[in-house]
Amino acid sequence: MNTTTPHVRRTNTRHVLIAGLLAVMVLIVLASLVRPNTGPGQAGLRIDADDAALVADGRALYVSHCASCHGADLAGAPDWQTPLATGAMPAPPHDASGHTWHHDDAYLIAVTREGGAAFTPGRPNGMPGFAGTLSDREIVAVLSYIVSTWPPDIRQAQARMNAP
Ligand code: HEC
Repeated sequence: MNTTTPHVRRTNTRHVLIAGLLAVMVLIVLASLVRPNTGPGQAGLRIDADDAALVADGRALYVSHCASCHGADLAGAPDWQTPLATGAMPAPPHDASGHTWHHDDAYLIAVTREGGAAFTPGRPNGMPGFAGTLSDREIVAVLSYIVSTWPPDIRQAQARMNAP
């Protein structure tokens, strides 16, 4: 025998509806939190080593902002594979002899924007973030220049890292 009065049933339905709405709201908030900050990607900006204007701008930016640590010839700091006394690593090369090309575009953009520290928890990291110094277009430009210096096989290998 069903003892539930019509009133109780209505209240239950309302509770279920409210709980459902709350769950949807929580999911929306969570989704916005976990969505990666695509930054330049959101503005349609991307690393493009075939864009001559972008590469030219990037070359000048590299000289003024990156060469002091990564080397004018992209060869990195001397003895770059030996940790410094602080535990931090010297600046690696950005040419084919380094490991810049082992990473996808999103990582390269994120490290350049935010700095390296977030990517090496537990050890100091000398790579500064350029979010306050360079615009997203400039960050994409300097990385386009770096990619443009790689031989075709290295460019292809790095391009394969990017999600389709
Ligand atoms: C003050 C010195 C310094 C300057 C200036 C600098 N970097 Fe770095 N960068 C580093 C160091 C040191 C690392 C290695 C960080 C680590 O792994 O501990 C690094 C790492 C990186 C990496 C990650 C490479 C990899 O394979 O993980 C990228 C990308 C990078 N730098 C790009 C740039 C760009 C682009 C510029 C100029 C806009 C720049 N850096 C300017 C010191 C510097």
